[in-house]
Amino acid sequence: MSIQFHESTGIFSLETAHTLYQMKADSTGVLLHLYYGKKTGGDMDYLIRLTDRGFSGNPYELSGNRGYSLDTLPQEYSGNGVGDFRLPAVQARSENGSRSVDLRFKAYAVIKGRPPLSGLPFVREARDTETLTVTLCDSVIGLEAQLQYHVFPTQDVIVRSVRLVNTGDRPLILEKAASACVDFLYGQFDVLHFHGRHCMERVPERSALPRGVMSFGSRRGMSSHHSNPFVILCEKTATENAGDCYGCMLMYSGNHAEEMEVDQAGSTRLVTGIHPDGFSWTLARGEAFQTPEVLLSYSENGLNGLSCRYHEIIRRQVIRPRWQTAGRPVLINSWEAAYFDFDAEKILRFARHAKEMGMEMLVLDDGWFGKRGDDHAGLGDWVVNEKKLGCSMRELSDQIHALGLQFGLWFEPEMVNEDSDLYRAHPDWALTDPDRKPMVARNQLVLDMSRQDVVDHLFYALCAVLDHAKIEYVKWDFNRSVANCYSHALPAERQGEVAHRFMLGTYQLLERLLDRYPDLIIEGCSGGGGRFDAGMLYYCPQIWCSDDTDAIERLEIQRGTSYGYPVSTMGSHVSAAPNHQTGRMVPLNTRGIVAQAGTFGYELNPEMLSDEEKEEIKKQIEAYHRFAPLIAQGDYYRLTELDGGKEYTAWMFAARDGSKALVQLVVTHTRANGAFPHVRLQGLIPEASYRLEGTDRTYTGASLMYGGISFPLKWGDYPAHQLYFTRT
Ligand code: GLA
Repeated sequence: MSIQFHESTGIFSLETAHTLYQMKADSTGVLLHLYYGKKTGGDMDYLIRLTDRGFSGNPYELSGNRGYSLDTLPQEYSGNGVGDFRLPAVQARSENGSRSVDLRFKAYAVIKGRPPLSGLPFVREARDTETLTVTLCDSVIGLEAQLQYHVFPTQDVIVRSVRLVNTGDRPLILEKAASACVDFLYGQFDVLHFHGRHCMERVPERSALPRGVMSFGSRRGMSSHHSNPFVILCEKTATENAGDCYGCMLMYSGNHAEEMEVDQAGSTRLVTGIHPDGFSWTLARGEAFQTPEVLLSYSENGLNGLSCRYHEIIRRQVIRPRWQTAGRPVLINSWEAAYFDFDAEKILRFARHAKEMGMEMLVLDDGWFGKRGDDHAGLGDWVVNEKKLGCSMRELSDQIHALGLQFGLWFEPEMVNEDSDLYRAHPDWALTDPDRKPMVARNQLVLDMSRQDVVDHLFYALCAVLDHAKIEYVKWDFNRSVANCYSHALPAERQGEVAHRFMLGTYQLLERLLDRYPDLIIEGCSGGGGRFDAGMLYYCPQIWCSDDTDAIERLEIQRGTSYGYPVSTMGSHVSAAPNHQTGRMVPLNTRGIVAQAGTFGYELNPEMLSDEEKEEIKKQIEAYHRFAPLIAQGDYYRLTELDGGKEYTAWMFAARDGSKALVQLVVTHTRANGAFPHVRLQGLIPEASYRLEGTDRTYTGASLMYGGISFPLKWGDYPAHQLYFTRT
C-alpha cells in the first residue's frame, strides 16, 4: 500500500519508490503538511514547532494558545482571510460579500487506481496507482475541498488536484481555485522557471527565492511561449546530477500561475493552478468545480534525476497509449518549403523527393483551405480550396499514398479571420468585448470555444475533411494570444468563467476527434511551442517545439524543454541553410543530430537539395531509425551544466538496462587551439564494459562516467560529434 493512514497519530503517508509525502489533521482539524522528500521511514510531525511570532493571530477556539497560528503552520491547502496571511490556495465570495475560507478536516477515503477526470486531461492510471481523497470543509459557507492525491509509486510522482463543492444552500463564487499548495517548512531554494518568447521557448532561468512573493504565469489564454506551467525548486547547491529538486508541473493549457512565497520564518509556499486574475466561477448549490491536475515529483539526484521522472510519467501515463511506444513517421512539412505558395503538383514533387530519401509522411501546412492565399483570410473555412490545389484533397492524398507516404494536414481550429465565411455568418462566435474593437493578431480573432455550438461546428467541419481523404496526421495550430475574452453566450456575472470554459471546449473537441479517429497523430503547435504543456500532451503525442528551426537556437530550446518534457514529444525538423529565422549556416550533419533529439522530420524544399545533400539525408534517416527506440525510450541526460560557460553542449540517451548509450555533442563556438570538449557520461553500469562503435576500443562504464570522454577538435562552424556505445 503506497497510501497509509495511522489512526493513532493522524498521519497520512504517501510513499513512492524513493519519496515520502506526509500530512496530518491536527486536533482542530487543520490539515498540516509535514514533509515531502526522500523516504525517511519515520513520522515527520516532530518537525512542527509552535511559537508566538506576533501579528500571527490564533483561531478563535485556540485563542489562549498564542503559539498556534494558521500563519506559521505548514498548510496542505491554504484558506483565505482567517489568519494565514500567506498565499491562499482558494478564495470564495459568499452571497454576503465575505471572501473568507476556513477549511477543516472532515473525512478521507483511499481507493486502488484512480477515477478518470471528465472534461480535463489527467494522468492515466498505472498498475500500482492509488488515490487518497481528503475532504476539508468550511461549514460556515458550505464549501467542501476534496483534495485528491494520486500516487504513482514506480514513477515517483504524486498527482494532485482539488474538487470544490458547494454543499451549502447559497451560491458561492470561486475567485481562486489552485490545484495544489505545497509548504516547505525548512530549506532555502532556488527556483527554475521557463520563460521565453515566440521563437525561443522554455529558457531556463534560475534565481534565488527572495523573501516575499515571486510569481510566474500566463494570462494569454494559453500556457504560452512566455512562461511554461512548470517550475522546479532546488537546493542552492543542486546541479544537473546532484542535489534535492522538486518539480511542479500543471497539466493545463490555459491561464496559469505559479506563485511562491518565502515567509517571515523562511518557510516556502508554492501555490499553482489556474491564474486567479480574471477568474471567477459561480458554484450553485450542489455544484462542483474540478481543478486541473498537478504532477509533483522529487529527486535527490539533481535536475537530470528530476527530468527522468517527468519524462517517464509523461511517456507512460500522459501520452495516449496508442503512441506511447509506437515509432513516429519521419515527416516532411511544407511550411518552410513553400509557405503559402503551392499547388498539388508542387506538393507531389516534394513527395517524390521525400520518398526517395526515405521520408515517411508529407504534411501539407497552412494554405489549403478557404481563401487562404496568405494570412489575411480563410481561417474558419475548413473547406478544401480545390482551385488553388488543382484537385480534391482525396486525389492529392491518394497520390501521396500511392507513392508510399502517409499524409498530414494543418488546421488552426480555434481561430477565425474576419475575412471568412464563418465570421460573416457568425460574428458572435468570436471572443470580442461588446462595443469595443477587438485586438487583432496575425489578422485573426479567436473563436469562443466556451460555446457548445462552436465546438460542435468545428467537430463536424474537421470530420468532413478527415472523412473525405485519408489523413493520418493533423498539425493543430494556435497562432495568437487570447484577448477580449468575452463570450456573447454567457451573462455578465459569468464572464470570469470564459477562459477556463474555452479550455474545456478545446479539450472536448480534441477528445471527440480522437474518439472518432483513434489512430490519428495530432501534433500540437502554437506558433511553435506556445502551448507545450502536459495538458496538450494528453491528446498530442508530439508538439512542434518552436518556429525557430535554427539548429543552434534549437540546442537551447530543446534543452530547456527537456527539463520537464521527454524528447519523444518535441517536434524537431532539419531545415534549410541559411536558416529562415536567423540566416545562420549550420552543417547538415549538425542539423540532423539536433533534430534527432526529438520527433525527427524535415522542413525544407527538397528540390533545392544537391545530390550529395540528398545522399546525406538518406543516411541521416537510416541512422535515425536505428537510434529511434533508444532516443524515444531511453533515459535522457544533459551532460553540460546550465551555466557551465562551455563552448559546446552535449546530451545523451542511455538504455534503461544499461545496454547501450548514444552521446551527442555540438560545438557552439569553435576556437583556434581550444580545449578539448569533455563530458562525463551518465546512466551506465559502472562495472560493465562498453565498446565504442567504429573502433575496437572498450571502456568500463565507470571510466566513461567518472573519467568521462573527450572529443577531437574540429575545424569550422558548429561541428557535431556522435558516439554510440554498446555493452560487450
Ligand atoms: C505557425 C506554425 C508554423 C506554421 C505556420 C502556418 O507559425 O508554428 O509551423 O504552421 O503557423 O501559418
